Amino acid sequence: MKKILVTGGLGFIGSHTVVELQNEGFEVVIIDNLSNSSEEVLGGIVAITGKKPIFEKMDLRDKASVTAFFAKHSDLEGVIHFAASKAVGESVENPLLYYENNLGVLVYILQELQKKGNANFIFSSSCTVYGQADEMPITESAPVKAAESPYGNTKQVGEEIIKDTCKVNPQLAAIALRYFNPVGAHPTVEIGELPIGVPQNLLPFITQTGIGLREQLSVFGDDYPTEDGTCIRDYIHVVDVAKAHVSALQRLLTGENQSNYEVFNLGTGKGSSVLEVIQSFERVSGEKLNYRIAPRREGDVIQAYADTQKANEVLGWKAASSLDDAVKSAWEWEQKIRKADKEPSV
Ligand code: UD1
Repeated sequence: MKKILVTGGLGFIGSHTVVELQNEGFEVVIIDNLSNSSEEVLGGIVAITGKKPIFEKMDLRDKASVTAFFAKHSDLEGVIHFAASKAVGESVENPLLYYENNLGVLVYILQELQKKGNANFIFSSSCTVYGQADEMPITESAPVKAAESPYGNTKQVGEEIIKDTCKVNPQLAAIALRYFNPVGAHPTVEIGELPIGVPQNLLPFITQTGIGLREQLSVFGDDYPTEDGTCIRDYIHVVDVAKAHVSALQRLLTGENQSNYEVFNLGTGKGSSVLEVIQSFERVSGEKLNYRIAPRREGDVIQAYADTQKANEVLGWKAASSLDDAVKSAWEWEQKIRKADKEPSV
């Protein structure tokens, strides 16, 4: 069994990826500091796969612990690196936290992989690197635009750090996956998204409004130059995103990669407006959503959806779920976790 390290493996995308890796027969070691996740997620992973991954609670900013970990697990065949901070607003308030968490840690891990020699590395990047792209759909060769936030900057600089490192380490192979908007939950509803505090992202805000936890959704702007005036994004089911990581890892493990640093978009190729996401929610839940049109949110791009040809053809992966499938799973997950909240503890 090939042993794979998943950093941030108890987070939203990380946990779904651990499930897919275990389903494909990999042995998984998770490192997570539980800053934006919970140990209970392990129970969900076990419920789905019947297998308990190795879990090490660790803060990767502690360089000595990172070195000790890699010495202990010298048989690792790949690293999928999710552990990072991801709140845009927080990154503006506290940029050094983001540079330390998202870039300092990346450097520590790459130093260990460089020492190892042969190593395979998958990086969580984001479509945020494209900013407002000039052409839709967005291909991987679209220019990287100046970042709108320290968070966005960490993804751009993170990619550059990996690229520069790969250039001088031919035995190191890396793939950066640029996610569009991952949403939804595992169809078993054993794992899903667990936003802390008021969600900043659209879908958790919608489901929390639907369940009555939030009064009303604010739609940030309806005067954009799009068909219905609201912004357009490429919402992709988190299970599809997770499966793409397994495909990317297999590509590196089998040596099919054409260069030792590659980049792929992970999206569905279909753009949906904010109002279309609301309609999808109303369709799958049978509930009316309380929303109002509010002013634009600073930093939002008008539209972003992926050209998926490269991932489809080169990676041999394609998003399988529709927007309704993803929204339905997010709604079922919301209902499950809120029901659990209301049940008296025994
Ligand atoms: C956001 C981040 C992006 C990051 C991604 C990670 C910003 C500006 N962008 O992307 O850098 O990579 O999350 O998950 O924060 N919306 C509403 N009302 C809400 C929330 C969202 O109308 O309460 C709208 C937004 O204006 C946007 C769409 O819904 O048009 C999607 O928003 P969101 O889920 O925050 O994703 P992004 O903005 O694409």
